[in-house]
Amino acid sequence: MTHPLRLGIAGLGTVGIGVVKIIRQKADLLAKRSGRPIEITAISARTRAKDRGISLSKYAWEDDPVALAERDDIDVFVELIGGSDGPAKEATEAAIAAGKDVVTANKAMLALHGQSIAEAAEDKGAALRFEAAVAGGIPVVKALTEGLAGNEITRIIGVMNGTCNYILTRMQSSGLAYQEVFAEANALGYLEADPRLDVDGIDAGHKLSLLSAIAFGTQVNFDGVRLEGIGRISIDDITQAADMGYRIKLLGVAQKTPRGLEQRMTPCLVPAISPLGQLEGGTNMVILEGDAVGQIVLSGAGAGEGPTASAVMSDVIDLARGIRVPTFGMPATELTTAPVAQSAVPAPYYLRFTLQDKPGALAKVATALGDAGVSINRMRQYGHDAQTAPVLIVTHTTTRDALDHALAQLPATGVVATDPVALRIEEL
Ligand code: HSE
Repeated sequence: MTHPLRLGIAGLGTVGIGVVKIIRQKADLLAKRSGRPIEITAISARTRAKDRGISLSKYAWEDDPVALAERDDIDVFVELIGGSDGPAKEATEAAIAAGKDVVTANKAMLALHGQSIAEAAEDKGAALRFEAAVAGGIPVVKALTEGLAGNEITRIIGVMNGTCNYILTRMQSSGLAYQEVFAEANALGYLEADPRLDVDGIDAGHKLSLLSAIAFGTQVNFDGVRLEGIGRISIDDITQAADMGYRIKLLGVAQKTPRGLEQRMTPCLVPAISPLGQLEGGTNMVILEGDAVGQIVLSGAGAGEGPTASAVMSDVIDLARGIRVPTFGMPATELTTAPVAQSAVPAPYYLRFTLQDKPGALAKVATALGDAGVSINRMRQYGHDAQTAPVLIVTHTTTRDALDHALAQLPATGVVATDPVALRIEEL
C-alpha cells in the first residue's frame, strides 16, 4: 500500500466525532476502498478538556486551527468548525495557502466566500470539497458534479432544512401552533445555535446557492436567493392547505429563466400526494432535473452525526483515491455571473389575511387584486370574531411582481387588519 492520507480535523462537535469514529471503526475497509490507509494526525477544537465519549489522546493537539491547517504532517485539512467567517475561514485559507486539500461541511462560509476560496484553492492546486455542506448524508454534490456532469441541469427543487420540515410536519400532525412546536424542536436540540439560520430559511438558502453554482456554472450568489422563513405559518395555513390537498414546505427552487437565474427558498404549497408533500420530519429531499436524465429524486437524513460524517468521508475517500474534482464542477474562473430573476415563472398563490368585517371590505381587496391583474380562483371566509374575519384567497396563475403590486395596495384600502401571508402553490 502507498503512503497514508493524513488528516487534520478542526472542530470536534457531533460531526467531527462522527468522522473520527468512522475512521477508527472502518480503518481496513477504508484502506481497501481508498488504496491507502486514512489516518488522523492532529486535531483541534475550542476546548481540549471535554469528555467527547472517545479517547483522542493518540492525536496531536493544536489549540489554534490555523496552526493545525499549516502543519507539515497533514495532507487534508478537515474543517468542521462552522461559521461563515472567523476561525473557520482563517484556517481554511491558511490550509489552502499551505497547499493542503480542504474538506468542509461549512455551507455558510462557502455561500458567502465560495468563489474567492475556490479560486485560491485552484491557484494552489489544492482541492476544496464540500459534500457535507448540503443536505447532510445525501450525496447531492457528487450527483451534480459527477453523476450528472453530462447534463444541462434545468431545475433543482428541494427541502434542505430538516428542522423546518420537522416543525411544519409536527404542526400538521399535532395541531399545535408554530411557537409551541418551535419550543419543542428547541428542547430536542434540533435548532441551530442561532435559530434564525433554520427558521428564516438562511441555512437552506446557503445550500441552494451552492447547488446552483454547480448546476448552472455560475458563481455562488447567496444574495440572489429570495428568502422567506416559516415563522408566519399558522396552524390555519396548514389546515387550509391540507383541505385543498396540499402540504406547506420550506421549498428551494433554482432554475435558469430567460430573465436570469431564479433562486428562492420560501414556504410553498406542494401537492400532498407528491414525494415532497409526503416528506416527514427532519428528512431532506432534493430533486434534480437534467435534459438527458430527466428527474432524479434523492432523499435522506439532512443532519446528524452519522449522515454528515458519511458525507465528509465521501470527500476524504475521493482525495485518498486521487480523485480531484473542481469545487463547483468546473474551474472557478470559468463560472459566470447571471442576472437575478426572482420568481420569474408564474404560479397560483395562496393568500390569507384578516379583514375588517364590514360592508364592502372584500370588494376593496378584490379590486386591489383585479387592478394589478391578479384573478381570484377560490375564496373562503372562515370563522370571525366581533370585528374581523379571516379570509383565504387562491389566485389564478400570476406573476410574483403582479401579486406584490396588489399586496402593496392593501394597506391603503383600510380594511386589512393583518399583513397577508402569501404562499406560492408549486405544482410539481
Ligand atoms: N440545521 C440544519 C437542518 C442542518 O435542520 O437541516 C445543518 O445544515
